[in-house]
Amino acid sequence: MKALEGIKVLDFTHVQSGPTCTQLLAWFGADVIKVERPGVGDATRKQLVDVPGADSLYFTMLNHNKRSIELNSKNETGKEVLTRLIEICDVMVENFAPGALDRMGFSWERIQEINPRIILASIKGFGPGKYEDCKVYENVAQCAGGSASTTGFHDGPPLVTGAQVGDSGTGLHLCLGIVTALYQRESSGRGQKVSAAMQDGVLNLARVKLRDQQRLARGPLTEYSQHGEGIPFGEATPRAGNDSGGGQPGRILKCRGWETDPNAYTYFITQAAAWTQVCEVIGEPEWKTKEGYATPPERLDKLNEIFERIEQWTMTKTKFEVMEICNPRNIPVGPILSMKELMEDEGLRETGTIVDVEHPERGTYVSVGCPIKLSDSPVDVIRSPLLGEHTQEVLAGDLGYRGDDLMRVLESGAVGDVNKEAAE
Ligand code: COA
Repeated sequence: MKALEGIKVLDFTHVQSGPTCTQLLAWFGADVIKVERPGVGDATRKQLVDVPGADSLYFTMLNHNKRSIELNSKNETGKEVLTRLIEICDVMVENFAPGALDRMGFSWERIQEINPRIILASIKGFGPGKYEDCKVYENVAQCAGGSASTTGFHDGPPLVTGAQVGDSGTGLHLCLGIVTALYQRESSGRGQKVSAAMQDGVLNLARVKLRDQQRLARGPLTEYSQHGEGIPFGEATPRAGNDSGGGQPGRILKCRGWETDPNAYTYFITQAAAWTQVCEVIGEPEWKTKEGYATPPERLDKLNEIFERIEQWTMTKTKFEVMEICNPRNIPVGPILSMKELMEDEGLRETGTIVDVEHPERGTYVSVGCPIKLSDSPVDVIRSPLLGEHTQEVLAGDLGYRGDDLMRVLESGAVGDVNKEAAE
C-alpha cells in the first residue's frame, strides 16, 4: 500500500511548478494521468534537448511515475473525454496561464458541477490583484517574491538562486494544499479549490527577510556583516551575501584547493555554544576569554577579522577535512558540494534521493528521487511516460470507452495518433 493509493489525479500541468507537485503525488501512490496536447505535449519534452529525438531531462526528471494521455481539450470530443476524466478523478491540478481553463470551458463552477468531490488545485504567478493576469516563470517569481532583492552582496545587483524556489517551491506548497483538502474531504464530503501563487510561495520561503525588514525599523541589523563594516543600512532589508540568516554568524570560507576548484569552500558557523571549540581548532585559544572576543555581542564588529583568521585555517584543509575536524566538536560546518559530487554521493544513492532511471529513448539517466521519506509508503521511481503512451489504456481501461464509441474518440482528432488497429 502507498499513502495515496486509490487517489486519481488529472494532471493538467506543464513546465516545472505543477509537474513537481503531481510527481510528488505520484510518488506518494496516487494514479497521475498527465493530459498533454496531441503531437506536442508538455513544452519541456523538447526543451534543453541533450539526446536528439529523446524526451529531455527537463521533462523526464519532473514527470516520473505518471501516465500520459494526449488530448485536445479544445475539441468537442476532447472536452467530452476531459469531462469523463473529471468525473472519475479526485484531484485536478493545473498551472496554465490565468484564465486558460475558463477559456476551455472548464471554470471552477463547471468542474464542481461535473464532480462535487473533486479538488481543483492551481498555480498562478500572482494571487488576486493588479498582477493576476501575468504569465510568470521561475525568475520572475524570485524577483517578485522578495528572494532576488535579498540575495547577493550588498554592493552588487540582486541575484536569482539556483534552487527553484518559485517553481518547485510552489509545487511543494500546492501539494500540501492538496493533501490537506483531501483530508478535509473525508469529513466534508466536498472538494474545494486550492490555489498557490508563486509570489506568495517565494515570500513564504523568504519569511526571515520580512522579519529583518521589521527589525530594521528598530535599529541596525547587527548580525549582518555590513554592520561590522560600518556601512549604514537603507530602508529595505539588504542583501546579506553569505551571512547566516539566523542569529549565529556564518560565512563561506576558502578551503585547500580553492585556487583551481570552484567548489573548494566550506560554510562555517561560529555558533556561540561552540566558540571555545572554534578558538581551539584555529589556534587562537586566548580568544576564548579575551575582552572583545569572549561573547557574541562583543564579536559583532570583529566578524570580518574573525572569519579571516578562521579562513587562514580552513585554507590548510580540504572541505571534507574541515567537516571531519569540526563535526565531532559540534562546530556547524558544511562543504560546498557540486552537482557532480552530489550525483556521485553514495549516501544519497542509498536513501533513494539520487536514483538511476532507465528510459527507452535515452538509456540510463540520474535523477533526484523523492526527498520526503514515508516509512510505510516507500517510493519506486518509474521513468516518465512517452507522449500519449497511455492514451488507449486510459480511454478503454479507466473511462470505459469500448467498440464504436472508442473508435469515435480515436478518429475524432482529439487524442493524437493512436494505433487504432491495436485498439480494435
Ligand atoms: N489541448 C488544447 N489546448 C491546450 C492544451 C490541450 N491539451 N493544453 C494547453 N492548451 C492551451 C491553453 O488552453 C492555452 O490556450 P489559450 O491561450 O487559448 O487559453 C495555451 O495552450 C497556452 O497555455 P499557457 O498556459 O498560456 O502556456 P504558455 O506557454 O503561453 O505560458 C506559462 C506558460 C508557464 C507562463 C503559463 O502557463 C503560466 O503563467 N502559468 C502559471 C504560472 C506557472 O506555473 N509558471 C511556472 C511554470 S514552470
